[in-house]
This record gives sequence, C-alpha cells and structure tokens, in this order.
Amino acid sequence: MRSVQVVSLDGPAGVRVVEAPAPTRASGEVLVEVHALGTSWPDLLLSRGEYQLKPEVPFQLGVDFAGVVRESDEGSGLAVGDRVAGCLPYGGGADLVSTSADALFPLPDGVTFEKAAALPMNYLTAQFALETRAQLQPGETVLVNGAAGGVGTACLQVAKGYGARTVAVVSTQEKADFVRALGADEAVLVDGFLAAVKELTDGRGVDVLVDVVGGDLMTDSLRSLGQLGRLLVVGFTGGTIPQVKVNRLLLNNTDVRGVGWGAYAMSRPGFMRRQWDALLPMMESGVVDPPVGTTYPVEEVARALADLENRTVLGKTVLTLR
Ligand SMILES: NC(=O)c1ccc[n+]([C@@H]2O[C@H](COP(=O)([O-])OP(=O)(O)OC[C@H]3O[C@@H](n4cnc5c(N)ncnc54)[C@H](OP(=O)(O)O)[C@@H]3O)[C@@H](O)[C@H]2O)c1
Repeated sequence: MRSVQVVSLDGPAGVRVVEAPAPTRASGEVLVEVHALGTSWPDLLLSRGEYQLKPEVPFQLGVDFAGVVRESDEGSGLAVGDRVAGCLPYGGGADLVSTSADALFPLPDGVTFEKAAALPMNYLTAQFALETRAQLQPGETVLVNGAAGGVGTACLQVAKGYGARTVAVVSTQEKADFVRALGADEAVLVDGFLAAVKELTDGRGVDVLVDVVGGDLMTDSLRSLGQLGRLLVVGFTGGTIPQVKVNRLLLNNTDVRGVGWGAYAMSRPGFMRRQWDALLPMMESGVVDPPVGTTYPVEEVARALADLENRTVLGKTVLTLR
C-alpha cells in the first residue's frame, strides 16, 4: 500500500509517498480504507521536526483522514462499510490505517470524504475552545483573528452553531469575502480592527476572542473584550508569544484561557466522540461546512505542504487516495 512518510526532517522536500506493508489490525482496533487525507499545520511542523511530538524518521504522516471501515470487532460501534472521519497525532496517511475506535467518528450521509478530511482537528479544537474553555452562550459575540485559516474558519462556524454572533479579523479583502461566504456575520481588516470592533458592538466589546495569531495583536485583542470577556490562547501563527500585563485583566474582569486540545482530548477515551456528537447537528444543519480549497492526488503531498508553508491556501488542502 502507499504510505505518506517523512524520510528526512527537511519540511515538504523530505516527505515521500512510498510502498509499505499494510497494517495488521490488532484486537480492539478498526481497519480503515482511507479515501481522503487532510493537510494541516502539525503535518508541516512534524515534517520539520518542530512539533511537540518528535517521532524518529521515517514515520507516517497524517492527522486528519476519512474513509470506510474495512474490519472491526463486534461491539466497537463501527461496522464494516461505515463511512468515518479520523484524527491521530500522526500516522493517518496511508491506503489502510488501523487504529482505536476512539479516534474515529461516523459521518453523516451528506458529508463527502474531502470535507470529512477537513473536519476533525480544526472543528474539534473549535468545539473544545468555545464550549469547554469559553463556555460560550447563545447571543454572545465571538471575535476570531486569523479567521480565514483552518482553526479560524472552524471557530466561526462552530460559534454560529452555538448561536453566537461572529466577527472575523483577517488581513486582506479577499479573506474578508471568503469568511463572509462561510457564514461570518462581520469581517474586519486586522489593521485598525480595535476601532472597527468597538463600532460593531456599540462600544461594549466582544464576549469571547479566539486568538490563533498571538504576537503584536495581543494588546488590542484584550482591549476588544467587554466586561467578563474571555480571550482564548490557541496559537501563535504571528511568530511571537505575547506577554500580558495583568492590570488589563482587572480593569474589565477579563479571563485569558489556554486551549490545548490535542493532548487533552486524545488521552481521554470517549472525549472526542462526545465532541463529535455535539458537532453532528451542526453538520446536518449545514452551519458546519468546512471549506475545501485545493485537492491533489496523494502523490502530490509535498506540493500540498509547500502551499501551506507559503500561505497560498484558502480552505483545507485535501489529498485524495481513491
Ligand atoms: N491549541 C490547540 O489546541 C490547537 C489546535 C490546532 C491548531 N492550533 C494552532 O492554531 C494555529 C492556527 O492553525 P491553522 O491550522 O488555523 O493555521 P492556518 O490555516 O495557516 O491559519 C493561520 C492564520 O493565521 C494568520 N497569520 C497571521 N500572521 C501569520 C504568519 N506570520 N504566518 C502564517 N499565518 C499568519 C493568517 O491569517 P491572515 O493572513 O488573515 O493574518 C492565517 O489565516 C497554529 O499555530 C496551530 O498550531 C492549536
């Protein structure tokens, strides 16, 4: 079978599709025939040896994938022929993957494999951030920065699914149009976003702010929050880790809350499945509908990862295997 492997820690240039033996399903595992593989930020970091997990080369890449159950144990909750999405720390990138049922989620009929491969990591992170960490309430306003990215778009749609009003902060007009088309109520440019957000909220500020960028935006992000606001620390795509002056937290009764989804969710059996069940009605109503950008055959994995590295993608880049 084909296996997407990191053969040297050189970023996309060190990623190859190689022939490898098919996995043997252990008792308790589910064997999945993979149809589509999502590309993600962790794939890129893993390919450079810059991720928190540092497997020895060569290793099989692949966080998000989708396919069909080929073998399973009775009572696993998944039957042969079921369509599933899957999420692993790495290792989902091959024609056949054998894994625990905890890492697999049933797909509604209307969701294609390509869309399914865009769902797990970003949307489970968004659900964890907004529900578990922010305790988002219907009618609250959520600001998302880096909003055109993978986690950003997921947060916009999941916040909508929870009945919130959404404000997207993006760097270009093209990205503003993109996030509006995905359901954002408002989209503002990052330059001068504080004034725009104050105007949109009649001076009150927002209730929840999802921060995937960090860096220089932090001070204005804190100023964008209203009373009892919650700022969620999700990522640092801006490249620097900001410092918070705690007097700002006292002024408006502000919380700064960390969001570390992967290690938390993946070490708690059944947790991701409960999260998925919370997202299912949002998938069925269409409010959760992940944007798929480019699809490539799996052989073009290095090109797909290079696109991600060069910031030229809008929506999830998906690799097809069947
Ligand atoms: N905490 C968790 O549990 C968790 C889970 C999953 C992912 N993450 C992290 O969340 C972050 C976002 O992931 P993602 O998949 O959404 O990434 P992405 O799709 O590449 O989006 C990141 C966004 O950040 C903005 N950005 C600002 N400055 C940037 C820069 N210098 N380089 C690249 N992007 C920049 C971009 O928007 P503009 O161009 O509009 O500024 C871009 O749309 C990553 O740091 C990832 O590791 C955290």
